Amino acid sequence: MKAEIDGAQIEATQALTLAGDLESLKLARISHLGDRSTIARISQSLGSLDPSLKAPIGKALGEARNQLNELFEKRLAELTLKRDQEVIESERVDVTLPLRRTPKGGIHPLTLIDQEIADIFIGLGYRVMEGPELEAAWLNFDALNIPADHPARTMQDTFFLEPLESNLVLRTHTSPTQIRTMLTQEPPIYVICPGRTFRSDELDATHTPVFSQVEGLVVDQGISMADLKGTLDYFAKKIFGDEVVSRLRPSYFPFTEPSAEVDIFFNGRWIEWGGCGMVNPNVLETCGIDTEKYSGFAFGMGLERTLMVRHQVADIRAIVEGDVRFSRKFGMGGR
Ligand code: PHE
Repeated sequence: MKAEIDGAQIEATQALTLAGDLESLKLARISHLGDRSTIARISQSLGSLDPSLKAPIGKALGEARNQLNELFEKRLAELTLKRDQEVIESERVDVTLPLRRTPKGGIHPLTLIDQEIADIFIGLGYRVMEGPELEAAWLNFDALNIPADHPARTMQDTFFLEPLESNLVLRTHTSPTQIRTMLTQEPPIYVICPGRTFRSDELDATHTPVFSQVEGLVVDQGISMADLKGTLDYFAKKIFGDEVVSRLRPSYFPFTEPSAEVDIFFNGRWIEWGGCGMVNPNVLETCGIDTEKYSGFAFGMGLERTLMVRHQVADIRAIVEGDVRFSRKFGMGGR
C-alpha cells in the first residue's frame, strides 16, 4: 500500500509539473488529488485497515498530500504569472508603427459659411427659417409682388415643373420662405432664410443653375433704412473683417421699395454683394400685416459669391463640384 501511495505521488508530481497552462493544471489536480484519485481512494479505505497499519499509512498519505498541495500552489503561481505575461504581450501596442492615413471626410465650405452666418444672426436674436426647394409659383412670385406678366418673372430664369398647371417651380430665391414666415407668424419678425435656389443658367465660371442664398427679413414697429444699413454693415464686418465697410446703391426689386444693391469695400475695391430694401407694403399687406403699424427690411446674398469674394475663388465650379482638394483648404474635418 505504501508503494501504491509512492506510485500515485510520483505520477501526480509528474502531472502537476508537466501541466503547461492553468487549464491542464486544473485537470491534473482533479485526476490526481480529486475524489476519484488513488490517494483519495486509499484515504477512504483507511478505516478498514489493520490498526497497526493505520498510523504509518495515514502519515504517508498526509505527507504525500502536503507535498502535492504545495507543488500545486507553486505551479498555480507560476502558470498564472505566465498567463498574465502572455496577455500583456499579446495586447502590446507598438506606438512607433507608422499610422495609416485614412483621409477624413469634412464639412463643405458652403455648409461652413451657412453655419457661420446662422451663428452671426442667432447672436442678434434672429431665428433661422427653412422652406421647400420645390415651391408654389404664387409664393415664389405673386406674393412677392411679381405678377404673371411681370418681366422679373422671366428675368430670373425659372425652372417650371410639368404639368405647368401644377404651378410649381424650383424656387429662384429664398424669398418665398419670407412669405411663409409672414403668413404664419406675427411681428416682430427677425429671421434669416438660407437654402438652395435654382435658375436655368448654364454652368460656367460665374454661373451655376443650383446655388445657395441667405436672405434676411425683419418686420417690426419703426423699422427704417438705417436699421437695414446698420445690420448689413455689421454682417459685412463679421464675414469679411472689421475694416470692411458697406454702401447701398439704388436698385430695383418688385418686393422692396426703396431697393438697393449692397456693396462692400474689400481688398481695395467696391464689390457687389447682394440686394436689399424696405419690404414693399404690397407684400406686407398680402401677408396680412398692418402697414400702418409695421414696416420691414429684407436683404439677400449668394453664398457661393460670398465665398468667392472672401477667398478669391476665381471659378464657381470649384465650389459646386465638390472636389475634395478644394474643400480641404477650408478645414476638412470640420471646425
Ligand atoms: N430675392 C432677391 C434675389 O434673389 C434678393 C433680395 C432679397 C433682394 C431681399 C432684396 C431683398 O435676387
